Amino acid sequence: MQVKICRDYEEVSRAAADIFEKELKKKPNCVLGLATGTTPLGLYKNLIKAYKKEKVSFKDVTVFNLDEYVGLEKAHPQSYAYFMRKNLFDFIDINLERTFIPDGSAENLEAACGEYSDLLSKNPRDLQLLGIGGNGHIAFNEPFSPFDGKTRLVTLTEKTINDNARLFNSENEVPKRALTMGISEIFAAKKIVLLACGKEKAPAVYNSTVLPVLPDCPASVLQRHKDCIFILDELAASML
Ligand code: GLP
Repeated sequence: MQVKICRDYEEVSRAAADIFEKELKKKPNCVLGLATGTTPLGLYKNLIKAYKKEKVSFKDVTVFNLDEYVGLEKAHPQSYAYFMRKNLFDFIDINLERTFIPDGSAENLEAACGEYSDLLSKNPRDLQLLGIGGNGHIAFNEPFSPFDGKTRLVTLTEKTINDNARLFNSENEVPKRALTMGISEIFAAKKIVLLACGKEKAPAVYNSTVLPVLPDCPASVLQRHKDCIFILDELAASML
């Protein structure tokens, strides 16, 4: 695992964009794993700029998103499907039919997870983007999630519900369950880029990079990945 410390959020977003732009140029039909949350927004802005300047194209790219809340329709403003359209897909030349996200509003959630896992196994990711939760979660793999887990239905922890409440009108509106790509599926990507910014991420960054690999910090398993980089701002790196 490599750790890169940047001065601030802008530098983190630039460093991440450089990696994604390089991949898009090297392999125009690459398969990307993408993430939601506030952290990747700067990266997505940079990718939109690169597309507008005709430096990159997404027309042959396939995207798999990490996770989705249960019970929110794709058109719900707080759904991750909506987030991806409003923050990236609506501004680039991606074919929406090649963008995938677990179906959190499916009638049969278990079947939806199985279908997503099948798709993932047929479409290995070249490059996977990750954020990190304050408790070390990746996607919605909360502490003690199985390292060999696949896409599945999960119950969110109080901490995650609290952290994510800022994006809803009230904490009561935050769904308590989600569908998430499993840790083994995240780990299967050829290259992984994890972004973390702000002092509230410092303990999770410390637990996942300095302490041994432990199930109470899901992101720590990334220490075992052959090609994984953590790109941090100074605040997120402050405990290293
Ligand atoms: C959510 C997502 C994660 C994301 C995390 C951190 O819980 N499921 O994939 O990494 O939030 O989000 P933020 O970047 O807003 O701190």
